[in-house]
Amino acid sequence: MANWTPQSWRDHEGIQMPTYSDQALLNATEEKLGSYPPLVFAGEARSLKADLADVAAGKAFLLQGGDCAESFAEFHPNNIRDTFRVILQMAVVLTYASKQPTVKLGRMAGQFAKPRSSDVESMNGVDLPSYRGDIINDIAFDKVSREPDPERMVKAYSQSAATLNLLRAFSQGGYANLKQVHGWTLEFMGRSPWAKKFSEMADKIGEALEFMEACGINPDTVPQLKATQFYTSHEALLLPYEQALTRQDSITDRWYDTSAHFLWIGDRTRFEGSAHVEFLRGIDNPIGMKCGPSLEPDALIRLLDTLNPNREEGRMTLITRYGHDKIEAGLPKLVRAVKAEGHPVTWSCDPMHGNVIKSDSGYKTRPFDRILAEVRGFFAVHRAEGTIAGGIHCEMTGQNVTECTGGAVAVTDESLADRYHTHCDPRLNAAQSIELAFLLAEMLNREISERNILAA
Ligand code: TRP
Ligand code: MN
Repeated sequence: MANWTPQSWRDHEGIQMPTYSDQALLNATEEKLGSYPPLVFAGEARSLKADLADVAAGKAFLLQGGDCAESFAEFHPNNIRDTFRVILQMAVVLTYASKQPTVKLGRMAGQFAKPRSSDVESMNGVDLPSYRGDIINDIAFDKVSREPDPERMVKAYSQSAATLNLLRAFSQGGYANLKQVHGWTLEFMGRSPWAKKFSEMADKIGEALEFMEACGINPDTVPQLKATQFYTSHEALLLPYEQALTRQDSITDRWYDTSAHFLWIGDRTRFEGSAHVEFLRGIDNPIGMKCGPSLEPDALIRLLDTLNPNREEGRMTLITRYGHDKIEAGLPKLVRAVKAEGHPVTWSCDPMHGNVIKSDSGYKTRPFDRILAEVRGFFAVHRAEGTIAGGIHCEMTGQNVTECTGGAVAVTDESLADRYHTHCDPRLNAAQSIELAFLLAEMLNREISERNILAA
């Protein structure tokens, strides 16, 4: 990688990052983090890259999900467990419907930093720095809390390490047992008003498991049934932190950002010449880029040339976020440009960030119907363009929050206040996430049978 070092981003325009007042403390903290163990191993990032290449080739489906922002206050084993469980439940449904492996990628164990539309927040005539995520400052609206504190990076590192440790234990230690995961889905169906709609697929999954069991294929004889591969990801926003965790792999001599398996660059920081583009171009992890309505095809191609000059498969995932009413008009031009240029990319749909509205009750929310509509639009565009609709990217939680409206137990405008806990954007709750997976499964099933018919 020409002219790149882990700190070369410092000579580029870096936005959405705090100005720390205590430079000495910042330096000392970066040094400390630099001496800490990596959170992930480069070989794992390489296997994710291979898995994402399969997604791009239409041989697997990508499910990326988790919190908008993790927080120090909500750090609890039950929260980690519940989000992990819902992702697995979604994955079983998607795997069954698509008859393809689901690549499971958590927005977890490092998703702490948030881009903000303004540097300052005003309340009752008082101006303070905006809250930028727990890795930077505190959400409480007072001067001390809002002061960026480098030592928060160390706390975020420890929380990420502990979260990842638990996720690894769950993935490998028996919690991910397919039979058990399906059992939870059946329990959920017992409570869901949409149970009838989904029962056919749920029954079929149960029957498939029973059939395998009768043939002697069970979690004891076939270990793949009780373990799974779970990867982590977050937005690479706070570059001093990402740089401190960037290490040279002793096997390949390449640089990896070991804070997560997959890092993405946000819609606000993906402009040409940005510090964030500069940083990401040099790390060898699979990376993502959010693509919103303001991204022009020419700029996208130039960014792809910068971020994936060797056109490596699985390296680039483009996560599109248009809004339910803009995707069908906006996305085709990007898809055509990328296809014409022959750049290998994995297309994924973020149906969350283009669909935020302010409810009458004053809460920031996302209507479930619009989320679903954007996913449908995404599939429709890729079908029309002959490209692969590879995956989805969701903000969700395993908790029973009331942040997005709609779903089977319709969360209403009035009930948003009941359990509105997010530190940032509204998340799908556990039930809404599973419902989305079932609805998505129907689309995916249709999509893949059509693809197979065309290929036959
Ligand atoms: N190991 C397989 C996989 O990860 C099957 C599997 C086991 C699985 N537990 C799971 C799939 C939980 C989805 C969810 O795909
Ligand atoms: Mn968000």
